This record gives sequence, C-alpha cells and structure tokens, in this order.
Amino acid sequence: MALTMQAQRLTAGQTSRTPVRAAHVRRGAVTVRASAATDPMGFKLMRSGIKQASKETILTPRFYTTDFEEMAELVNPANIPQQQQEELEAYLREMKTDYNQRHFVRNEKFKEAAEKLSGPTRKIFVEFLERSCTAEFSGFLLFKELARRLRDVNPTVAEIFQMMSRDEARHAGFINKAMSDFNLALDLGFLTKNRTYTFFKPKYILYTVYLSEKIGYWRYITIYRNLQRNPECQFYPLFEYFEAWCQDECRHGDFLAALLKSKPELLQGPIAKLWTRFFCLTVYITMYLNDHQRSAFYEALGLNTTQFCRHVIIETNNTSKRIFPEVPTVDSPVFWDLMDKMVSVNNQMAAIDNGTSSTPALLQPLAKVALMERLGSLVLRVMLMTPIEAGSYDFENPAELVY
Ligand SMILES: [Fe+2]
Ligand SMILES: [Fe+2]
Repeated sequence: MALTMQAQRLTAGQTSRTPVRAAHVRRGAVTVRASAATDPMGFKLMRSGIKQASKETILTPRFYTTDFEEMAELVNPANIPQQQQEELEAYLREMKTDYNQRHFVRNEKFKEAAEKLSGPTRKIFVEFLERSCTAEFSGFLLFKELARRLRDVNPTVAEIFQMMSRDEARHAGFINKAMSDFNLALDLGFLTKNRTYTFFKPKYILYTVYLSEKIGYWRYITIYRNLQRNPECQFYPLFEYFEAWCQDECRHGDFLAALLKSKPELLQGPIAKLWTRFFCLTVYITMYLNDHQRSAFYEALGLNTTQFCRHVIIETNNTSKRIFPEVPTVDSPVFWDLMDKMVSVNNQMAAIDNGTSSTPALLQPLAKVALMERLGSLVLRVMLMTPIEAGSYDFENPAELVY
C-alpha cells in the first residue's frame, strides 16, 4: 500500500466519520510488552522465532481505514453508469479465474538459500521482507474489510475486494514464511490489533491503492527482469515468483482504475488534478527516499538504486497517465535534481537518528529542524513544478465518456 506524508494523528476514540483528511486510529486496546531478546543480527524478538515489528515512521508501510459508509455510497450501483458496472463484472470473472492459485508453492531451495545468506545482505534482506510483508498484509486487511462492508450494497465490487484480499493474504503469507526461514516471522495477528491505522477518505483510498498496486507491479517486474539478465544475483528463490505475482498487482490496479472511471468526478476538474498529482508525488518521493536508504539491497540484486527507482517511477507515471488527469513531470532533469537533493537531506537526518552524524550532539536538534525545513521546501518545489496534463478523456458531459 502506498504511503503519504501528510497524515495527522487521531486518538482511538474518534470514529471514521471524523472530518479529517488523513489520520491514525489504533484498533483494539491490547498492549503487549515485547521482550528485550534479540537475534544474532540484532533484531528485537517478541518471542522465539517471532520478530518485533520495526518502529513505525513516516516512511514505513501503513495500515489503512476509511469511511465505509461513504465508500458504500460511492460504489452503490445506483450511482454507477451501466457500462462501468458491466466492466466491473468482467473484472470479477477474471479475478475468479484465480491464475495464481497454485503459484505460491515453496520448495527446498528457500531454506538452503536462507542459510547461505550472511553479513549485511542477510540483515538488509530481512528488512526488505518485513516491509514487503507489512505492505501486502495492509492490503489484505483493507480489502477484506471493504469486502465485508460493501457486500449488501454492491456484491460485485465486494467480491472483487474479497478476491484481492485472497491474493494479498497469499503474498503476505508467502513472504512471512520466507521470514521464518530466518527465524524472524512477524506476528500478523498482533500487528492487526496493535498497529496504527491511517484514515483516508474513500476517494483518497482509490487514488493511493491504484498507485500502490501499479508501482508494486513495476517494482516486482523490474527486479524479476533484472535477475533474469543477471542470474548470479538471485540470492533467494522468492524473486523467481515475481513474474506471475506482479500480474496480481497489475489486475488489482486495473480494477481500481475501473472503479475510478465509474466516478468521472474523481478524474476531471482542477481538484482531481491536484489530488492525483499530489498522490503521485507522495508515492514517488516516499519510494525514492526509502530505497536510497537501502541501496545495499538493490546493489546486492545487481541493480543501481537510482536507475531502478527512476525506471519504476517513470513507468508508473506512464501507466497513471492513462487514467489520472494530471501527473508530475518526471522526465525533467530539474525533477530528478530536486529528488536527489531530498535524498541527501534525508540521509543527513537518518545519520542524526542513527548516531553516525558528524554534527556535534548539542547542535543536532537544531540541525534536524533545519534539515526538515530544507526537505519541506524541496518537496514544495517539486509539487509546484508544471505538471503533465493527462487522462484518457476530457469531457463536459459524462455521457460522452469513451475509454
Ligand atoms: Fe500483493
Ligand atoms: Fe495488490
């Protein structure tokens, strides 16, 4: 699931009807004190074989919730043109085919590969697995809840979300099984109850889920194709599954596109243009900063981190262009110059956080404020760049819609 950088905090007592653009809620009231035990790589353990989840930050994968009543109104067949409802039914038939039903079957190579992996690559790979598992599981939780809450309103849409949650559960489970090869599985039940949930209005959920599915597709397929060209870098068999796996993400994104198309007001006009550009940028910036903090992982796969990120962002932007009315100008050198400056500032902040900064300790709080201001101004400059007008249609009368 995609991340954004403009969330506000919400206490557990507030409901999803609260009129805020984005916020956080925590499900349940269970608080479990984790043990102080650590594994040989230094990861904190909840108990033997179970990793304590990494601390949540602005850049870590989030869990989402939304206003389900408003979403029900959005997908009510009475508010969806017949042509789009038929398109959604075609998606349901495709999802029911379940192309990857027998795809996620492990073999003996997994355990062997995990045992061979050592040093910094082992540690950074476990971190990659955790982030991926959390993101996949986040999709599972949201789609499962949407399926449950929309069942009576639009059974077609509800069933598609059910199929999507089936896929994401498979993805998350497969990755978590890989984590258990390293004796560092996640307790997904515990995470469900204790992780912070970010509240997004339904229309923002549609934009961000569409983007996260499409960027997920491009990430997986780019890694897969690179490893086909450089098989000596395939240090763990999980990557061999990415080709069919990413087709699940592509199908999910296509369904979200169909849902967005059933709501023309979300894809036309100045407000829609602003939001689509804004969400594209937040997803791209988050990925660019995150991946550059983990360059060693991409290098271990034989990738150049900057080239990998740029390729994924450019392709996701090209895909999004087909549906979003406005997308960022990612083919401009100025855009990448600003993105690289953000990486530099973000790395300096990370150095302060992890104690490797050369700034004297006394001056670090001040330095961090200055860096945050600098990062904010760079983000603003990117946001204010002239965008690309896009979208598959431009119309005044919804009856003129042609796809
Ligand atoms: Fe997935
Ligand atoms: Fe997905």
